[in-house]
Amino acid sequence: MEYTTIEQLNKFESKTVELKGWVYNKRGSKGLFFIVLRDGTGLVQCVVNNGEVNEASWEVASSATQESAIIVQGVVNKDERQVGGYELQVTSLELVSIAEEYAISPKSHGVEFLMNHRHLWLRSRRQWAIMRIRNRIIMSIHNFFQESGFIQADAPILTGNAVEGTSTLFEIDYFGDPAYLTQSGQLYGEAMAMAFGKIYTFGPTFRAEKSKTRRHLTEFWMIEPEMAFYDLAMNMDLVEDFLVYLVKDVLADCSVELDVLERDIEALKRVEKPFPRVHYSEAVDLLKSDKTWDMISEEIAALKAEVPVLEAELADNKKRYGQAKKWEKKKIDAREIEINQRQEEIKESLRNLPEWQESARNFEWGSDFGGSDETLLTRHYDRPIIVHRYPAKIKAFYMKRDPEDDRLALGMDVLAPEGYGEIVGGGERATDITFLEDQIAAHNLPIEVFKWYLDLRRFGSVPHSGFGLGLERMVTWICGLSHVRETIPFPRLLGRLHP
Ligand code: 4AD
Ligand code: MG
Repeated sequence: MEYTTIEQLNKFESKTVELKGWVYNKRGSKGLFFIVLRDGTGLVQCVVNNGEVNEASWEVASSATQESAIIVQGVVNKDERQVGGYELQVTSLELVSIAEEYAISPKSHGVEFLMNHRHLWLRSRRQWAIMRIRNRIIMSIHNFFQESGFIQADAPILTGNAVEGTSTLFEIDYFGDPAYLTQSGQLYGEAMAMAFGKIYTFGPTFRAEKSKTRRHLTEFWMIEPEMAFYDLAMNMDLVEDFLVYLVKDVLADCSVELDVLERDIEALKRVEKPFPRVHYSEAVDLLKSDKTWDMISEEIAALKAEVPVLEAELADNKKRYGQAKKWEKKKIDAREIEINQRQEEIKESLRNLPEWQESARNFEWGSDFGGSDETLLTRHYDRPIIVHRYPAKIKAFYMKRDPEDDRLALGMDVLAPEGYGEIVGGGERATDITFLEDQIAAHNLPIEVFKWYLDLRRFGSVPHSGFGLGLERMVTWICGLSHVRETIPFPRLLGRLHP
């Protein structure tokens, strides 16, 4: 008999195998138990018949609690109706360890509770799906760059200088000197691009974000390609190819995971070249336009119309509840939770949308887009958009100016569709040393720590560009989640350092 994993069961049809894992779920009674086993690679239903296993095995099946660890042997049968498409007819069971009453019960829990139990929450099917997609994206990122002549060259995490402004720095004590957890590997990436041509960094980055939003972590992973002899246009072409490549891989390999998350994959299938390239000024006009105003008004009207429909369904379910059979009651209960969640969402949207509408209309050229502005902008398009040439004032010191308009920087952001907003920030880098010295001074940054960076402009300076993709923002969008917190195993947020 062979030990295998649930993921591999398709290779063992009608054969006897051994699986090792945990009890995800158990039901049954007198002579029969259905145990859904979880082994990290998937779920499979294991059928235990009293007549077909010995007494010791039956005892294990009877006593095993949720999350108890067990070793199961049995025959693999194809069964389309079951999770994973296979079922195990159990021949023997062994207990590894019995679990105490599980901390996360099947009833629904609030987010705070789940976040406090993140170390256990990770075992749920939903988290399984998200982490597998995260893993698939990571693999594709490496494949894409390795196939395109890039080498991975990592930047340090402990640094002596700020990259993305001084307001979000985590300062630490470095043997008596001040140091910072890196906000971005870019400046080192530039040095490495001058050494190796095309590089990408892939590492943790840190921002002391002092506000709670659904898009911000204090610790997140960033992928930062940096390319010598690339201008802004080439940079935009690259990011487009890159994102299309990642989405295609996830669609090809993660259908089960996307299904678990109930992701609308049609929206992902529309992620094709070319991505609209929207000049900042054009984006501002669109934001302030009647088109945006009317789009929100329509959405508000649609949400208001949904309220009485949901209420009617609740009332109707309440009426039916008394006479309902047990299984129907379960269904009604589950639906009630869904409806309540939807009602909360609607309430929140009806609170937010009028504010978003106002602030979009009153947006002033020169300001940075807020989260809601990005959300509204992306709703006009069916795929990611690249907004380029932002006002230099709102961008970092290292950005090259637009030769056509000195007020603008040759920066670009990729905004993901369906309201997700910024997932990539990047641009072409300034090469003029005097300009950079002025910018460093204008941003109140200490010139001494940038001496090495300025050297890059002294010794063989060339046009170069790059960008940074926030891994968790990418995963949030691909998985269709409403918050970034579930996209990293142990999220670090304002007010959250444990577990
Ligand atoms: O736009 P940002 O700040 O750009 C840079 O750091 C550049 N140095 C990158 C480069 O050109 N090499 O950050 C890049 C991306 C954002 O678009 C976003 O996806 C992600 O990093 N990001 C965050 N993700 C989660 N939580 C946060 N607090 C984030 N801040 C930025
Ligand atoms: Mg940015």
